This record gives sequence, C-alpha cells and structure tokens, in this order.
Amino acid sequence: MNITKKIFSLNNYLVLLICSMMSFSGFSQNTSMMRMGSTDTQSFDDNWLFSRYGSQADGLVKEEPKNLEAVSLNETNWEKLNLPHDWAIKGPFRIELRGETGKLPWKGIGWYRKHFTVPASDSEKQIFVDFDGAMANAKIYLNGNYVGTWPYGYNSFRMNLTPFLKFGQENILAVRLDTENWDSRWYPGAGIYRHVWLVKTNQVHVGHWGTYVTTPNVTKDAANVRVLVKVDNATNKTVKAVVTTDLYEIDINNTLTAKAGSLISSTLEIKANGTEEAETHSVLNNPKLWDLKTPNRYVAQTKISVDGKIVDTYNTPFGVRTIEFTPRNGFLLNGKRVEIFGTCNHHDLGALGAAINTSALKRQLVMLKEMGCNSLRTSHNPPAPELLELADKMGFLVLDEAFDAWKIGKKKLDYNVIFDEWHEKDLVALVHRDRNNPSVFIWSIGNEVPDQQNVKLTKELADIMHREDPTRPVSNGYNDPNGGRKSGAAVALDIMGVNYFFDQQPKWDVDPRYANKPTIGSETASTVSSRGEYFFDDKYNKTSWQISSYDDAFPGWGCSPDMQFRTNAKFPHLLGEYVWTGFDYLGEPTPYNSDETNLLNFRSDPSKQGELEARLAELQKSNPPSRSSYFGIIDLAGFPKDRYYSYKSHWRPDVPTAHILPHWNWSERVGKVVPVHVYTSGDEGELFLNGKSLGKKKMTAGKDFRLTWDNVIYAPGELKVVCYKNGEKWATDIVKTTGTATKLKMSTDRTEALADDVDLVFVTVDVTDNDGLLVLRTNPLVKFSIEGSGEIVATDNGDATSFVPFQSTERPAYNGKVLVIVKAKKGGKRTIYCKSRKCRITIGSNNDQNKIINNKKNRDD
Ligand code: GAL
Repeated sequence: MNITKKIFSLNNYLVLLICSMMSFSGFSQNTSMMRMGSTDTQSFDDNWLFSRYGSQADGLVKEEPKNLEAVSLNETNWEKLNLPHDWAIKGPFRIELRGETGKLPWKGIGWYRKHFTVPASDSEKQIFVDFDGAMANAKIYLNGNYVGTWPYGYNSFRMNLTPFLKFGQENILAVRLDTENWDSRWYPGAGIYRHVWLVKTNQVHVGHWGTYVTTPNVTKDAANVRVLVKVDNATNKTVKAVVTTDLYEIDINNTLTAKAGSLISSTLEIKANGTEEAETHSVLNNPKLWDLKTPNRYVAQTKISVDGKIVDTYNTPFGVRTIEFTPRNGFLLNGKRVEIFGTCNHHDLGALGAAINTSALKRQLVMLKEMGCNSLRTSHNPPAPELLELADKMGFLVLDEAFDAWKIGKKKLDYNVIFDEWHEKDLVALVHRDRNNPSVFIWSIGNEVPDQQNVKLTKELADIMHREDPTRPVSNGYNDPNGGRKSGAAVALDIMGVNYFFDQQPKWDVDPRYANKPTIGSETASTVSSRGEYFFDDKYNKTSWQISSYDDAFPGWGCSPDMQFRTNAKFPHLLGEYVWTGFDYLGEPTPYNSDETNLLNFRSDPSKQGELEARLAELQKSNPPSRSSYFGIIDLAGFPKDRYYSYKSHWRPDVPTAHILPHWNWSERVGKVVPVHVYTSGDEGELFLNGKSLGKKKMTAGKDFRLTWDNVIYAPGELKVVCYKNGEKWATDIVKTTGTATKLKMSTDRTEALADDVDLVFVTVDVTDNDGLLVLRTNPLVKFSIEGSGEIVATDNGDATSFVPFQSTERPAYNGKVLVIVKAKKGGKRTIYCKSRKCRITIGSNNDQNKIINNKKNRDD
C-alpha cells in the first residue's frame, strides 16, 4: 500500500511504528560474517559496562579514580551497553567545540568492563580477545592484570588473555581508552567503536592473521595458489604439525559451495613456544576470477593436525585476480583497463557516528556503486574489516591507507606522538589483516604528511609494505607532488599519489625517475555544496552557513567535478581519481571551518598563507555552527546532492541519465533569471519551460560535462529536458513547481532486515504536495515514535549546521527530506503503522509482513 495516497496535515506529526520481525534476504549481517580466522571465534560485543571520566559531554571534568581495572570495583553506576559504541555521538553539539571534529564532545577517558566465563573444559586452550578498533590509546586488563596496549585507534589488534584467565570462574576484562591524548582533523569517534571477538584455539594453532594467500600466476585455464601458514606452538615441547589446505568456492552469504582444490600438505616441526611457517602450492583449474562485476571469491580452509588429530581449522577468504599498473595504459584488472572512479571516505556513518554497522556501510556502498564508483580510498586510516568484506563481495577496489601523519604531526597529539614506537607495528598489522582481501589493490602509507619529502622515511615505510606484501604497489598521497618528486622521496613508491595537482603531470612524464611511474589522483575536486540550496549572487551564504548546489563552489586547492573530468581527459594514461568525498562526514566543515587546520591546506604554497590566515580570523569572529562537511557527493543523511548525477553520467555513460537543477519553486523570482543546469550521460539536450523550447545545447566530449541554460527567466510551471545521445532520444527529466506541502511520503532502503538488534533500516521521509512532488522549501518538524520491538536509533536530515542531537526522535526536514534509522529488535512482531493525529495509516499488514514500507521508486532513482 502506498502511503502517499493518504493525506494528512503537516501540522500533525507523522508517527511511525515499526514492530519488526523481518526475514533475512540479501547478504549477511555481522553474525554470519566469515571472520578470517580460527573457527571458534565468538562475538564479544554484548553486555559491557561503561563509565566516562576526564572531559564530560557538558564540558565539565570528572576525575578518573585509580585502579578501575580492579576486580573488586563497585560498578553500580556504570552504564550497560553493547558494542560497537561511540561515546561521543550522542553529543550534545557544543558551539565552542571545534568544527573540524564535529563540535561533538569526543575527548575523554572511557572505561569498559566485561564479566565473562570461559568453561573449565577450555582450560587446555589459548584464549584471545580481538579488537577490530578502539579509539584511542587502548590499555587492556584482565582480572586486574595489565595485558597490553594498542594506541592507534583505527587498527585491529589481538590480546592474549590466557596467562591471566581463570577457567570455569568469572573473569573481568577492563579496557581503558583515552581520547584526551589523541587529536584529529575530522571526527574520530571515541570508544570501542568496532567489533570485539573472543577467540579460542588449541595450543597448536594458526597464528594471528597467520595466513597469506597469493595467486602468482593466473591464466584463463589455471591459477597457481600459494598459501603461507604460520603455526604457533604454545606448548613447552616440540611438536610436529601437519598443515593441509583445501580450497572452496564461497557465495555472497559466505557459504562454502563447491570444493575447488587441495594443497599438498606439509609438516612443520615447531619448537616449544615457537612459530613456523608452511608454504604450500596448488593449481586451481578454470579459476572464477574476482572482478568488479562478478566478484567471485574462494576460501582457503587450513587444517592443522597434531598426532593425527585436527587441532585448528582456519578460513581465509580470497579472490583470484591480476592487477597491473602501467605508466601508459593505466590500471589493468585481469588484463583489462579499469579507470579508477573512486571516492575518498572517512570512517563515520553520519548520525551513527563512528560505531560500525554493516547495514549502514552497505547502504553507503550500494549508493556509490549505483553512481558508478568502483573504488574506495580509506582516507586516512585503516578501515573496519567489514568495509573490506563488503568491497570484496560487491566488487570495489580499495586503496587501503595507513596514516594522516608520520613523524611531524598536523596536530600536536596526532600519530606523530607514537610514530617512532608504533609505525612498523601498525603497518604490519594493517597488511597482515588486509592482504588476503582481493579488493585491496594499493597500499597508501600516508596522506599529505608534512614530512612527505623525507626520502629515508618514505623508503623505510614503503620497504615495510613491500616486505609484508610484495604483490601490491605502495603509494603516498602528496599535496606537494612537485616537492616529492624533486626531493626524490617518491622514488621509493610504486605509484605516485597526487592530491589536487594532477595537471602538473606532463612535467614529470619526461623525468626518467618518474616516466615509468604510474600516477593516481589520490584526491580530487573537494567541491562543496548543501543539498537543495541554490544561491544566485554569492555561492556562500554566511547567514545560513549553507553553500549553493550549482556545484561550482570549492576551496582554493579544489575544483568542480567538470574541471576535474576535463583534466582527467587530458591524461587518459593515468590511473583515475578519488573524489573528496563520497559522503559528507562529521567534522571539517570547510569553508566554514574556523579551526587552525584550515591553514594546513596550501602549506606547500606560502603565498596563500596570508589569505588563509585572514579568512580564518574572520571565521573565528563569526563562529559558524557548521559541524559536518560539505564535501560529500551525498549528504550526511545519505541523500544524493545534484553532483551525484554528474558523476553517474560520467562514470556510467551507458545508463540513460538526465538530471535538472535547481528545483522550480521560485515564487520570489518570477521574471528573474534562474540558471538551469542538466547533468546527462547523453551529449545534447533540449530544455522546455511550460512546453516552450528554450533551445538545444550540445556538449563537446572531453570539454563539457553539463548542459547549461544560464538565462532562463523564471515562470512557475514545468521544466523538462529531453536529452539525446548520438542523435537518438536518450533520457528525460522533469521538475515542476509544486503545490503546498500536504503529505509525508516514506520510502526505505530495503524491505527486509534481520530482527537481531543490529541490522538497520533507513527510512526516508519526503515532504510532498498532493501530487507526491517533493517540496524542498518547506521543512516541517517530523516526530517519530515506535511501538513494539523496534527502536529508533537516529534521525538526520543532512543539514551541516543542525545542533539537534542525532538521537532525537523529532527533527525538521531539511530541503524536504528527513531520515529515520530503525533497528529491529530480537523476536519482534510484524505490524507496521504510520499514523498522524488526524488519521491512522497502516502501511504493513499481516499479509504483507515483510514489506515495511512501499519501496516506491522516486525521482532520485
Ligand atoms: C585534503 C586533505 C583531506 C581534506 C581535504 C579537504 O588536503 O587530504 O583530508 O582535508 O583536503 O579539501
């Protein structure tokens, strides 16, 4: 049933009730993720206790008592929660906090405690806890004993609990996190914001991230598969361990389907408390290659036997593909050229903060894929492992990045503080965790690091990556590529990563040191805009702190998508580009970022410093409320901005696309000019206003990337574009002057979800007129509530200046749209209602149990 048929007054509130149950379809959520590793790996996310010290959400300071790791601690006032958890996302936003880190109170000391029991029957086992990421400066204690530390909040790490574990009795794991001693140029989140796992192994077992699968030779008929397996012996005697590996095909749900081969087993003699490595090979006949359209995967299932008994079974998903980087013919995947149509993305998930959620991440990737994006840059840190698994399954290439700073920091307390002691351990951890993912195709050792001209350091870091994984190239993102080339630092790299200075490439094509080095646009564009805002005089509105969406606003170092496409067209041999950014993110609200990092941009061009300093001083006086970025092609709530269709047109030229901007509700501009722009994958278009042609426009290939009618005199009615490609009718779009807003229309990202307390459904509410047309300039307050076994997790509308907490169940629409994120609780019922004060609308019924909401295609589709 389509709720848009029901009319209710916008003075009333929409009440959304979702009681959920839903059956599962599509591919798996967290629970069935195939973790690379030993089979006895259990989620350790539930039932933690949390307490916060140091800086509090309201700015006050609460002293941290001593010995919070103690077994006998009084935990009465500790909050109960499940992981992943980001303690800062609930805010409140505070105007005096820095815009660059989202005006959220993320600084503090967080303590987590978990009581758990490991049965006495496991007393012969090794027990580990694996953290996918904890922000930041993690210190781990078990039963009051210090176990270890891992400062870098983005990396995954393992702690061995065995020495302090009491089998058959209660144990207390305590984790201290400290973000007071960490700093960032974007919102880093705070807390154990990724998953945690309890891993039980026998004494002889595959080591942590102990497998490495490569495919040295691949042809259509056969692939050589090489599997390295590190086996740890935790006993105090020498053992003989037999290592065997079988290969299976796996499907999107990680189910092993057909057996694909076996590797010859090998026997290792491992000394007491020692480690040995087995190297085995096999041939996979008729390999099903991993590529972007058919991301076929396999799993190497390794079994370790001692005295004829299997002591460990370890699964390593992998893919068979070839990657080649050529200086003249770009990047080749399985021998075929693939131009990189990439986006850079920070790790936060908008209203959910940094806390990882696979359905939220998948929703983002689905939108990027639909746009034609084929590659992700994990700017500027190691991603959650779920991102790589999704990329493997969905067919994205990943540029896996390690750092935003080396020895010289961008902020006083960023990675520079731990660089000397930790950079090698962090790089090794990153490579060992991610080197089996077929999606990962380039390692990046840094982003615009201030010491990017340091020849010795660049070589040292690149050498670590080459040593740990010689199968992938190493890159570094330069904001001063000329400097990096002149100094010779870039000689150590396989791929030159160029942020924003792509057009200087010809200079370097002639230098013998670089002539054969492929170059990638590791960061491009940085176009800024606010969804649905169109300004005609100044692109920047310093009252509302919004930015016009004609996609012609960008900071001094950036450019529009069109300008970048033009540059790319001049250098077709280059690998491609990563747009800054796919999604808006929390923090760094350039150009309204009144924080000192603003000055970092152009640090390679001292002549711009004065200009930037003056702008910064002016911004600091007006103290803008902006708390999230404007860079996204898609806004923070996940609503596409106009340039989504620019990228889609360019990146998916075979899909008929036509998109008109702006909207057509300009009652105050009757008789005045309103420029009309059209993004299309066609090459020509004719614009009609109320049926009257405003003329045909053509685009010249490689030069024009939008059709423009800049002198349209506004009259209410209908604006229609008919686009052509090679003279044939190709795509059309229509925007109309709408009536007044009378209705709310819901749609959802999918119609089914798991009722597991984790899986999320994203419900978009559009403010529409009687005919169902989106009314951008009416922004009613929408109130949400839920009955039954569902939970409203967050709401958002994509407004970068809003201080309404993300957890609020009421939120005004922003340019006609508002989002509510709903979680299906375990064991829920199946009725879904939507009602207003005046009328009650049922949008699901017992006969239609799996449909949450009519997932009607709207204009955005
Ligand atoms: C780049 C930087 C990114 C982001 C971007 C904004 O220089 O690498 O992290 O700050 O500028 O345009």
